[in-house]
Amino acid sequence: MKPLKHGLLLIPLALTACSHQNDYSPAPDANGEQIFKQVCSDCHKPDANGIIYTLKKEQANTDYIRKQIKQGSFMMPKFPNMPDEAIKKVSQFVLAHSKTN
Ligand code: HEC
Repeated sequence: MKPLKHGLLLIPLALTACSHQNDYSPAPDANGEQIFKQVCSDCHKPDANGIIYTLKKEQANTDYIRKQIKQGSFMMPKFPNMPDEAIKKVSQFVLAHSKTN
């Protein structure tokens, strides 16, 4: 089993290499909706009822959304130039347009 362990160590490195970032930084007076439309709606679109996300209960909070924006994910870029204030505003917009399952 020893060689297998070494193989597993390489997986996080491979994922890091795939992650990407978006250098967008919002105007200081931009509100959550403006930020969302400028940069998030490239990938996240509202449905016919205006719902953009279906979040699990444990995801439906600003902490989780902040993490997603700061760290990105396999498919989503991270946004290192988004100030906390902007993240807060856009997170509130996200929550207001989400349903929870
Ligand atoms: C390049 C496309 C892209 C952009 C731009 C993008 N996202 Fe995402 N985002 C994704 C994808 C794909 C997922 C789901 C899969 C994953 O987590 O990798 C996701 C997942 C999420 C999630 C977790 C909930 C879920 O549906 O899985 C939140 C919250 C989120 N994005 C918010 C945002 C916000 C806020 C912005 C703008 C600051 C943004 N995203 C910009 C592609 C994007």
